Amino acid sequence: METLISLVNKIQRACTALGDHGEGSSLPTLWDSLPAIAVVGGQSSGKSSVLESVVGKDFLPRGAGIVTRRPLVLQLHRIDEGKEYAEFMHLPKKKFTDFAAVRQEISDETDRETGRSSKVISSVPIHLSIFSPNVVNLTLVDLPGLTKVAVEGQPDSIVQDIENMVRSFIEKPNCIILAISPANQDLATSDAIKISREVDPKGDRTFGVLTKIDLMDQGTNAVDILEGRGYKLRYPWVGVVNRSQADINKSVDMIAARRRERDYFQTTPEYRHLTDRMGSEYLGKMLSKHLEVVIKSRIPGLQSLITKTISELETELSRLGKPVAADAGGKLYMIMEICRAFDQTFKEHLDGTRSGGEKI
Ligand code: GDP
Ligand code: NA
Ligand code: MG
Repeated sequence: METLISLVNKIQRACTALGDHGEGSSLPTLWDSLPAIAVVGGQSSGKSSVLESVVGKDFLPRGAGIVTRRPLVLQLHRIDEGKEYAEFMHLPKKKFTDFAAVRQEISDETDRETGRSSKVISSVPIHLSIFSPNVVNLTLVDLPGLTKVAVEGQPDSIVQDIENMVRSFIEKPNCIILAISPANQDLATSDAIKISREVDPKGDRTFGVLTKIDLMDQGTNAVDILEGRGYKLRYPWVGVVNRSQADINKSVDMIAARRRERDYFQTTPEYRHLTDRMGSEYLGKMLSKHLEVVIKSRIPGLQSLITKTISELETELSRLGKPVAADAGGKLYMIMEICRAFDQTFKEHLDGTRSGGEKI
């Protein structure tokens, strides 16, 4: 049974594959209406670390400065068995099993769009899919880190450009915001909280993630925030302990890091009572469940958009004439088929004839 998340993933990919054909039709609206989770926060707040822990893999470029210079749309697909692999939308025929090569390709593909200069950012997303028995179905968008000042060689506009790009993603009502704040800084100065409050003042679609709990000053702890007495959001904050830079340098693997993270919460007296809802593994499962619920609640709206898209595509196809051997026609055909499948599965989910729950 297709899960709702994997269906939405397909539509997202199909919309993007269609590219220019979307303009002037309801496709861009459809894209924007598909729920996804965007990761926001200041530079070095731990965004990439959180993403990697949720995936359980090392695959993101790292380094000083603005490493993430294009949005990365990351679709996680749970497969029942088999070896895990990754695929980029811009390299449809290539299966990556080496995640170091994935990291290299993200970096190369960033440069192809923006040039090698770390001074340039672009809002054109890179689409990456990871297929693995060890992931939960989830769509995450990694965004450039918010900064306060331009560094040498960067145009002054870069601070504002990054902020505008982040805002353009998270202001969509269907965007779920993963607001990453480091525990070793005052929450009042958190870039993630500042920008998410702007677009989601009540915190209805914002999940607070507190990183670097292990780096807090001795004698202080994050219990107040984690128990909702710090900055109130509708959903409880999740605390995580990612790998430190020293761990990364020593190549501490993700499995070991997750185990250590669990131990950390279990053995620290202040946090022991919160263990069940702390850590990266919990975060991934909770987000997947939440995404499924959100998609379900949006089915009626999505369904009417899809009906509209199908009829537009039919018109476009008949305008192109048959046979639709041309690449464009083929793509239109593909998305129409996916939309139909989508429509069908939506109906099944609504009928309640099948279980729509994500198995985790
Ligand atoms: P990003 O710029 O927001 O993507 O941040 P990164 O994920 O690259 O993390 C920045 C630095 O902080 C890296 O050196 C990480 O190893 C370190 N870091 C991130 N989260 C934690 C954490 O929970 N604990 C510790 N000790 N270090 C962390
Ligand atoms: Na960084
Ligand atoms: Mg990063």
